[in-house]
Amino acid sequence: VPTRIFPNSEEASKAVANEIAELIKTKQKAGQQAVLGLATGSSPKTVYAELIRMHKEEGLSFKNVISFNLDEYYPMQPDAIQSYWRFMKEQLFDHVDIEPGNFHIPDGTVSPSMLAQHCQDYEKKIKDAGGLDFQLLGIGGNGHIGFNEPGSLENTKTRLMMLDQSTRAAAKTDFGGELTKVPKKAITLGVAKILQAKRIVLLAWGERKAPMICNAVEGTVSAQNPSSYLQKHPNALFVIDEAAGSGLK
Ligand code: F6R
Repeated sequence: VPTRIFPNSEEASKAVANEIAELIKTKQKAGQQAVLGLATGSSPKTVYAELIRMHKEEGLSFKNVISFNLDEYYPMQPDAIQSYWRFMKEQLFDHVDIEPGNFHIPDGTVSPSMLAQHCQDYEKKIKDAGGLDFQLLGIGGNGHIGFNEPGSLENTKTRLMMLDQSTRAAAKTDFGGELTKVPKKAITLGVAKILQAKRIVLLAWGERKAPMICNAVEGTVSAQNPSSYLQKHPNALFVIDEAAGSGLK
């Protein structure tokens, strides 16, 4: 996978925010919607902060943006502090002019009997919007993208996923340090839909991510490491800082 290594995550995040802003503006000029796939977690926070700055200081408008988030815990109430709904509102949507009906996050409150339908509908909405123009990703310590944990096949659809122990352990601090409070499941966009995005940018910061970046960029493509599927994508880019790139040959 092509990889750009920046001296630090701030500069890297600005470059990614610029690419997203250019996409939004190009689509705007053409009278089209920009369809964005968005991620939560620590990695994209500065990208969102930079987009908010561009909105406030440079007049970047999100009126033509339609977005789809990768995942949400299940079950999860939208107003809970750990919900990805709340994360997105706080980190981005509440500070820009995106239309309230134009952002989508998997629904952590859907009843078990409606889950399969909800996942199907989520994919249909992406398709009806014209597919994802741009997908932003982080990478889990176990190589997950979205919450496609190791074992996820390349053709997997949007679905309920059992979270890995390592993923739940990493989320513990968000749940008052209590592992038992971390949901065991999450709804995640499937690998297949992620790979259908026209452009994919994966972010990784810090030494902690170095081994996984190495595996994703140079390792064998396998379900044991879902991030390795990005090697097959014709227009994917890894944007990382020096520490996350320290293991690369
Ligand atoms: C979040 C998501 C996850 C995270 C990954 C890295 O929506 O889909 O795959 O991107 O767990 O998380 P951070 O950025 O917190 O290291």
